[in-house]
Amino acid sequence: MANVVVIGTQWGDEGKGKVVDLLTERADYVVRFQGGNNAGHTLVVEGRQFIFHLIPSGILHTGTVCLIGNGVVLDPGVLIQEMDKLGAAGLRVTPERLAISRYTHVIMPYHRALDEARELRKGSTRIGTTGRGIGPCYEDKVCRSGIRIHDLLDPARFQEKLEANLEEKNFMLKQYFGAEPLESARIADEYLAYGERLAPFAANVSEILQAADRDGRNLLFEGAQGTHLDIDHGTYPFVTSSNTVAGNACCGSGIGPTRIHKVLGIVKAYTTRVGGGPFPCELLDETGTRIQKVGGEFGATTGRPRRCGWLDTVVVNSSIRLNGLSGLVITKLDVLTGIPTLKIAVKYRCGSQELSSVPPELKALEACEPVYEELPGWDQDIRRVRRLEDLPANARRYLKAIEELTSIPLDLISVGPGREETIVLRNPFD
Ligand code: IMP
Repeated sequence: MANVVVIGTQWGDEGKGKVVDLLTERADYVVRFQGGNNAGHTLVVEGRQFIFHLIPSGILHTGTVCLIGNGVVLDPGVLIQEMDKLGAAGLRVTPERLAISRYTHVIMPYHRALDEARELRKGSTRIGTTGRGIGPCYEDKVCRSGIRIHDLLDPARFQEKLEANLEEKNFMLKQYFGAEPLESARIADEYLAYGERLAPFAANVSEILQAADRDGRNLLFEGAQGTHLDIDHGTYPFVTSSNTVAGNACCGSGIGPTRIHKVLGIVKAYTTRVGGGPFPCELLDETGTRIQKVGGEFGATTGRPRRCGWLDTVVVNSSIRLNGLSGLVITKLDVLTGIPTLKIAVKYRCGSQELSSVPPELKALEACEPVYEELPGWDQDIRRVRRLEDLPANARRYLKAIEELTSIPLDLISVGPGREETIVLRNPFD
């Protein structure tokens, strides 16, 4: 039995969805603990493509229970759409397969409206949010005015909270942002209907986890976004509004830290970033465009093109520290096939200083120049390779360099989008 957290080590979109899906073969429970439908994972299973934003990827394995923890911000309309999409594909999502914490905060229409209005007003200094209302929903959680799943199940309490919130939000929308105010009756009708539909799924996730853990079940905690989008440890303010680091698997689901056994860090073989913010290894040339095209680097949530760059071990090593990683998973190695010379950032030069971890201040990071190690590329198609020793020598060299630069063992290597296109070196559930 093992309880494993899976975390992105870069700025999100590392390919966690596929890894979680693969590991779910051994997991009894898959738990989301932060973020919301700003995340998006594309899964290819038996040739069919699925995109999810809220439902944990484990839903595709019929023997696995999926849990949405209290640390998530949940847009009920989006969740219901995902449930219906799965239902239409023949996979019924029942309360035996999915439970939502009663403490999970609900994304309301005014959160989305405020997210958009704020970004618009910021103009060129905007963060580039996904516009899903994530930040404003977390703001309400912290200022103790948020609406939680269990409020949706009590019409009188919901109405009272809605009115109180709407009075303030409409004032902001109308008076400050010059945007359209929202109508209470329409929101109430829509959300109380969501409440009725989701009532059978509302549960005490912390108690479910405790019982599962006591029964010796395997628990898998699925991080969303990446370490450097963490609200505290990321490239603030160009971050998301939750803690994306492994420690939040505990707070965001209601399990104690001594119950976590392993933390797996997902490292894309190169780096990408969506939205604004510093990105020292960004490639603004043909190689960047090539990686973007071959890697299909367009947001699963917003469709925006992702900025692409070389692998940055300064970023990865900071993630190792912040998450206490026990193993690494390298994803999308196949995307680098055909690039004659590959580069890996090994440190930053910042004025007269050399840095081996991401500096805490944005200005300092913006002034950093990466120092690269160059490695020869490979031309052979690697998507059919299933054993490390069958990879081209230069691909093995690239992986060895990552292992040496990070001092963390590699557990899995993904060589294509399909579940089977993977080299398994160690299964964290062993
Ligand atoms: P928000 O989470 O929508 O508030 O967006 C804040 C920042 O996080 C923006 O730069 C987004 O592009 C980024 N972001 C949010 N979710 C993801 C994700 O799942 N992958 C990559 N970037 C994300």
